[in-house]
Amino acid sequence: MKKKILIFTPIIILGIVGIYILTSFNYTKELTIKIGEAIPTLNDFTKKAKGSISWSNNVDNYINGTYTGTFLYNNKKYSVKLNVVDDKAPTITDEVTVNQYDKVEIPVTDNSHDNLDISTDIDLDTFKVGTFIVNVTAIDANNNKATKEVKVKVISEAEKNGKNIEVVETTNKGYLVQKIDNLYYVNGLLIANKTYALPNSYNPGGLLELFNSNFNDLKNAAKKEGVNLSVISGYRSYATQQGTYNNWVSYYGKTKADTLSARPGHSEHQTGLAADINSLSQSFINTKEGKWLNDNCYRYGFIIRYVKDKDDQTGYMYEPWHIRYVGKDLAKKLYNNGDWLTVEEYFGITSKY
Ligand code: DAL
Ligand code: ZN
Repeated sequence: MKKKILIFTPIIILGIVGIYILTSFNYTKELTIKIGEAIPTLNDFTKKAKGSISWSNNVDNYINGTYTGTFLYNNKKYSVKLNVVDDKAPTITDEVTVNQYDKVEIPVTDNSHDNLDISTDIDLDTFKVGTFIVNVTAIDANNNKATKEVKVKVISEAEKNGKNIEVVETTNKGYLVQKIDNLYYVNGLLIANKTYALPNSYNPGGLLELFNSNFNDLKNAAKKEGVNLSVISGYRSYATQQGTYNNWVSYYGKTKADTLSARPGHSEHQTGLAADINSLSQSFINTKEGKWLNDNCYRYGFIIRYVKDKDDQTGYMYEPWHIRYVGKDLAKKLYNNGDWLTVEEYFGITSKY
């Protein structure tokens, strides 16, 4: 009897193991791929089952995350998991060239299709021609981070077309006045005043994008504080300015007209970088809109161009409504903690016919 048990026990055990092997089903439950790699098929999880995996959400192998799916084997449902991981930081370009007044777009590429968080340590202002360095940080959805010093070259239309750049003078404050394609620049800032005129033909085609996008920011910020600001006169062509100026002359005579209206070719409205906001009355400064504009426009790169009691410098009476885009750095300097400086005194230039 004992002998029989000894013989049958291993046979029974072998039989149980055999049945278990024949009936149990093992498969890979979880796979991990790197972003961009091929999406595994059912065959990668198991060689036994036929058919395909039904994923609960569409698998995008360019977006990191965990995806789950199921498949059928012998009429039973099995679950699988796929991890798509991203371990590569984005790539930031070394150098970018941009036209003056255009928006700077720093090219950053990433292996993921997910959103990138791109930030810079300084404002990307293209008001001045020249080269500046900006530190760019790009972080992808998986927290892979890249940082790089990027050289941004801002070139003027004239430079782009290989035009001549002529040095006109150095001001008494040491700034360079240049004539580029018949436009006058002081330290890179386009000037239109009584001394420096724009050619009749100069027509940027309307308010420039640089003006519009920054004004939009300003307008939205003001609105949040219950202040409504809008442009009542923006770009004016040489011909339009001629009409405007002539109207003032016929109304007030030439001497007075020259204190409040620019002769054609001398108006900042022809630059596409200046506009009148809300009102053409000096009492605008006593309204909440006028005060807000005066106190905050510099944050968005604008200045009050014709400052109170500085007619002898600007050549014009106080215009609390006339703003000019000069870029955030210069605007802050001219704002001068609320005690506005004029472009003329800051750079040491004149505004005289
Ligand atoms: N009112 C300003 C000076 C202009 O006519 O451009
Ligand atoms: Zn104006």
